[in-house]
Amino acid sequence: MVADKANPTAFLKAEVDDLKAKHLNWELHSLDGASTPHCVVDGKNVLMLCSNNYLNLSNHPRLKRAAIAAVRQYGAGSGSVRAIAGSMKIHFELEKRIAQFKEAEAALSYQTGFAANAGLIPQLVGEGDLIISDQLNHGSIIDGVRLTKAERAVYKHCDAVDLKRVLEEADAKNYRRILILTDGVFSMDGDIAPLPEIVKLAQEHGAMTYVDDAHGDGVLGDKGKGIVHHFSLQGKVTVEMGTFSKAFGVVGGMIAGSAPLCEFAFNKSRTWLLSGSHPPAVAGACIEALNVCDDEPRHWKKLWSNTKYFKRRMRKLGFDIGKSETPITPVMCGESEKAVQLSHKLFEQGVFALPIVFPMVARDAARIRVMMNAGLKREDLDFALGKFESIGKELKIIA
Ligand SMILES: Cc1ncc(COP(=O)(O)O)c(C=O)c1O
Repeated sequence: MVADKANPTAFLKAEVDDLKAKHLNWELHSLDGASTPHCVVDGKNVLMLCSNNYLNLSNHPRLKRAAIAAVRQYGAGSGSVRAIAGSMKIHFELEKRIAQFKEAEAALSYQTGFAANAGLIPQLVGEGDLIISDQLNHGSIIDGVRLTKAERAVYKHCDAVDLKRVLEEADAKNYRRILILTDGVFSMDGDIAPLPEIVKLAQEHGAMTYVDDAHGDGVLGDKGKGIVHHFSLQGKVTVEMGTFSKAFGVVGGMIAGSAPLCEFAFNKSRTWLLSGSHPPAVAGACIEALNVCDDEPRHWKKLWSNTKYFKRRMRKLGFDIGKSETPITPVMCGESEKAVQLSHKLFEQGVFALPIVFPMVARDAARIRVMMNAGLKREDLDFALGKFESIGKELKIIA
């Protein structure tokens, strides 16, 4: 685009118009109340099938009470970044509680998961080092990688054989440090990283391992302790990164690992050092989310029984739901237009499930991404399945 000196902000509208013309713009939807399995979106009563609130904790009375109690005791804001005057007792309590829940030596909370990836990855490696990343890693990992001077290599998605090939090539080059990065659960397909193989290869080649467990926290492992627990790899992964913004129903990033890792991380991560700390209500609610996971495993159990029921029934109806092994259930539609039509029709009939289209996924791999939730009852799932069946047939996605 040619620079327009007379109107330097002309690009703002022009670029959005261009996105609109290509149907790549976001249209925002408004929830009129809490994010619950039955909620009001854009003024319409719908069944929520696209939030990441897997355990239905975001409106849990214990979390709300904990947030209010934290406000009463500590106020609305922390007043500073953590490193100066913004570290309150409740922030340290949260970190102790994360370490205990994750069965790790230490933990550190970040403002968000994005801030953890963008802040820590560029500190772990730099010039003379190599990052090896799964082909389908999340955008926040990719942005963290962009901030480093390290060399980059990509291995085929979830393919330990290809990772081995990259590591063997790296052996010949004598890098100072090597960091292997992977999502734990991949957010578009719901498949799980082969972490035991990754850790084994890392040990053999002297590399560090970093797993982003944003979609495994609260979901995988006993009571939702995450992917490291799921594979019994406690103490063997260099960085177990996660988030409170999904299954735990609040917001906030975290890392768990060794005590030297956490001390290194808060001394070096620019996102941690240069940005205000969580309001006390967030820290209070996050602590209580972990307490609820320990005391009320019924949410975790219900999430999995709902997931198994929904997936089984969708497959029986003839839908292609990919290779997902988790509550993330992609409903493959082929072309973007089909996925958009399916989503619109579902919404008209009371089911809120959003399409994922190019460029987030390949052009012919557009899908509706259903996120299962522990708060959905059997009759809710049957209602949604009925709508998928009738609209799926109408749009010829299933026969
Ligand atoms: C795999 C993955 N990593 C990181 C994040 C970022 O987490 P947060 O919402 O805490 O910033 C997300 C959220 O979309 C995610 O899906």
